[in-house]
Amino acid sequence: MRALDTRARAVHTRAALKTQNPLPNKEMLILGIETSCDETGLALYHSDDGLLAHELHSQVAMHEAYGGVVPELASRDHIRRILPLTRAVLARSGRVPADLDAIAYTEGPGLAGALLVGAAFAKGLALALGIPSIGIHHLEGHLLSPLLAHGAPQFPFVALLVSGGHTQLMRVDGVGRYALLGETLDDAAGEAFDKSAKLLGLGYPGGPAVSRLAERGRAGRFSLPRPMLHSGNLDFSFSGLKTAVLIAVRAAPQDESARADIAREFQAAMVEVLVAKSLAALEATGLQRLVVAGGVGANRQLREALDAKAARGGFGVYYPEPELCTDNGAMIAYAGALRFARGEGATTSSFSVRPRWELAEFERSA
Ligand code: KG4
Ligand code: ZN
Repeated sequence: MRALDTRARAVHTRAALKTQNPLPNKEMLILGIETSCDETGLALYHSDDGLLAHELHSQVAMHEAYGGVVPELASRDHIRRILPLTRAVLARSGRVPADLDAIAYTEGPGLAGALLVGAAFAKGLALALGIPSIGIHHLEGHLLSPLLAHGAPQFPFVALLVSGGHTQLMRVDGVGRYALLGETLDDAAGEAFDKSAKLLGLGYPGGPAVSRLAERGRAGRFSLPRPMLHSGNLDFSFSGLKTAVLIAVRAAPQDESARADIAREFQAAMVEVLVAKSLAALEATGLQRLVVAGGVGANRQLREALDAKAARGGFGVYYPEPELCTDNGAMIAYAGALRFARGEGATTSSFSVRPRWELAEFERSA
């Protein structure tokens, strides 16, 4: 899992990642900047040539000792990384700042201080270059990221957005045309993975660690709830599942095999609920394409279960490239390109960040 890799990396598979989603004819080179949480992500997206380069610095190692993200440390680290990573994406694609047509940055939601680093840098560079900048909704970045992959889906589709902060099912009819179908009433799916990982004595972030431990576990020894499986709507709830993990951990022998068995059951419960609700969303909308985005979308067991259902159920399931499931600059550059193509973007010096950014505002162009 790339989140454990703290070295900056780049992707050279430009052809492989070239989007099949048509942009208008106007040629554009967009710098994308993601700093909403604990990854500094920079990317260059070209309207004709696709993703030219993306670089990521994960702060996971720095936050690991604290068992979660420390906002002040996150902001300071973004400041350290943002300029070298910008230089790196430009150098890797043989471009210079003057080649940029616009700069996209994550405006929210996320950690206020972390967002401010990206926004201030984007605005400063855009002003210096005399080009527009645009604030992107982080979830819109995730939502559109599967369009960067090979065999990208056509609109409309259902999107299952499963990250550390959000769990939502949406109907997506086009760029900016998002209708919320259902969401979590409490913890997000990634949060449930992270909290359960902690209870199981695993590190942060918990998703990949739980997934790995679950592979060694046996089925049938523990029984955990499938919250809201039969609720009759498309909402989720995961805080009870986390509490059930806590109770199981306390009652079970303190050994590796018990922990693996609990992880397996937790993983199975998460997958069962996410798959069932996604299928229900397809049925409710009558759509035949499901897009999975956000960090939990990297989960192997979830992908296997959805692929198996899709093979039998006559619908298509689409994922971002695995390394673009979790936070990255490429999805922000791409969302920026789509928005610039629609004439959005500002050259004013004022800017804001939106640590809390509701879906209603998110649908600004719906
Ligand atoms: O989208 P993301 O990188 O950041 C947010 O916007 O929140 O998602 C991070 C979340 C974390 O909770 C992490 O534990 C989870 O995604 N995650 C996974 C996996 N990889 C990352 N959860 C389950 N299985 C994975 N393989
Ligand atoms: Zn995210």
